[in-house]
Amino acid sequence: MTDVSGGGSNPLLDGLRIEPTPESTTLVIFGASGDLTRRKLLPALYQLSRAQRLPARFAVIGIARTEMQDDAFREEFYKSLSEFAEVEERTEVATALARELSYLAGEMDDPALYARLSEKLHAIGSDGVLFYLAIPPGVYATVAEQLGRAGLVKPPDGRGWRRVIVEKPFGTDLGSARALNETLHRHLDESQIFRIDHYLGKETVQNLLVFRFANGMFEPVWNRRYIDHVQITAAETVGVERRAAYYEGAGALRDMVQNHLMQVLSLVAMEPPIAFSAENVRDRKLDPILSIQPLLEDGRTSNVIRAQYTAGWVNGKEVPGYRQEDGVAPGSVTDTYVSLKVLLDSWRWAGVPFYVRTGKRLPKRTTEIAIQFRRPPLHIFKRVSPTAIASNLLVVNVQPDEGISVRFEAKLPGTRMQLAPVMMNFRYGSAFGRAVPEAYETLLLDAMLGDPTLFARHDFVEASWALITPVLEAWQASGEKAIPTYEAGEWGPREADAMIAAEGRRWRTL
Ligand SMILES: NC(=O)c1ccc[n+]([C@@H]2O[C@H](COP(=O)([O-])OP(=O)(O)OC[C@H]3O[C@@H](n4cnc5c(N)ncnc54)[C@H](OP(=O)(O)O)[C@@H]3O)[C@@H](O)[C@H]2O)c1
Repeated sequence: MTDVSGGGSNPLLDGLRIEPTPESTTLVIFGASGDLTRRKLLPALYQLSRAQRLPARFAVIGIARTEMQDDAFREEFYKSLSEFAEVEERTEVATALARELSYLAGEMDDPALYARLSEKLHAIGSDGVLFYLAIPPGVYATVAEQLGRAGLVKPPDGRGWRRVIVEKPFGTDLGSARALNETLHRHLDESQIFRIDHYLGKETVQNLLVFRFANGMFEPVWNRRYIDHVQITAAETVGVERRAAYYEGAGALRDMVQNHLMQVLSLVAMEPPIAFSAENVRDRKLDPILSIQPLLEDGRTSNVIRAQYTAGWVNGKEVPGYRQEDGVAPGSVTDTYVSLKVLLDSWRWAGVPFYVRTGKRLPKRTTEIAIQFRRPPLHIFKRVSPTAIASNLLVVNVQPDEGISVRFEAKLPGTRMQLAPVMMNFRYGSAFGRAVPEAYETLLLDAMLGDPTLFARHDFVEASWALITPVLEAWQASGEKAIPTYEAGEWGPREADAMIAAEGRRWRTL
């Protein structure tokens, strides 16, 4: 297929991410009556408009089955701003953007819907059209097929571009991810497909690339000679909330590890790309995933611990156990927590474990990457300060307080030589005095600009599923009626502590 995404043709985008404004664009949101649209997409569009980052000619067409007139969709837009963007008033920016919103109701498999969409797009006449699939995953293929059949994925006269953003989850295992890729590739060129992973839109996650590759002092120690191990944590305090129907079929390994945490791990572990261009970065990001040792060995998944929360207390509030949540089967063995020890077969990382953990109903909402360095070879202060010295630690805080901290040993003030660890902190909020954009703002804009650097490529998604799927299959085959548990408000099950303790290490207390 030929490249009709328009991406890569702009030489400015091959270099640094500069601040261009996209061409005239129409954003078509499939699933415009849904939660994601209200919670994330409409507020992000408002913020982009406020920052004058949207094209001068910009329109939004919302699509869903719910019957709604244009005005009702505009009301939904205002409501979403007050609920999720703290914008109570109908500001000039909001009313101007609302005027560009329109809505089409229809069934996603009905060709008549696409005929009406085609007419509307023709009337608007934008150079670029970005289709956003904010619909249940079971409907992605239908919409891609219908768009293809209606000839909507190619610009009518060869000018302009057509792109499609696909939401998570991208498949539920290797087979379904491959099948989805095949369907998409039947109608779209890979350069037109933007698989969103909102973790990649987070400022500190992007900053990992800058931190590692725009500084001379970190990269020389970023390897097995100096690093003892890496811990990646994504902890949530919330439970399953109203998403039980989805979560019961997913679990933590699918919901968090296959996508977000594997992306983060790759950015920590990747080799330097030869340039900051989408394909160079995405090529290098693939290598670490391909180099991970299988998680299933001799039919055993001993490096992967799954668990489920029972009733407990989180943030001073008593909360029910997972099996007692609405919509959860009483005998459910869905993993609400998972921790993994990951080993990479690469020159840089041989023998350095990456411990990855994520869970719901943990004591604190935080996502961080902790690089634990080796201790100095000799403790020359042992006689005067006999306590063991803490190893150097570099922590990248992804959320909520975006920033980077370094822990090192210092002399305690006083007449005696006593040592104590101290932290040196960089915080995004205070360092630049600028609001950090929401991930969806960055990613929507990138897709309009045709820059796929921060989107998941088909081979990465498949490689990550190839790693995870044998574990899911082994769990399924085991037919276990119960899995380890942890009380809500605790940092996971005893088994996870035992896994890391067996190697003389411990999880960080956050
Ligand atoms: N919500 C989030 O924060 C979030 C976060 C990450 C990823 N996602 C992903 O984004 C997508 C949308 O999620 P959501 O939370 O917005 O879901 P949702 O609230 O259930 O909305 C689904 C949207 O799709 C429409 N739809 C069209 N055909 C449908 C069908 N056959 N069955 C059900 N709905 C259909 C629904 O509208 P009608 O019923 O009017 O047709 C609605 O607008 C999903 O793939 C989800 O995994 C969501």
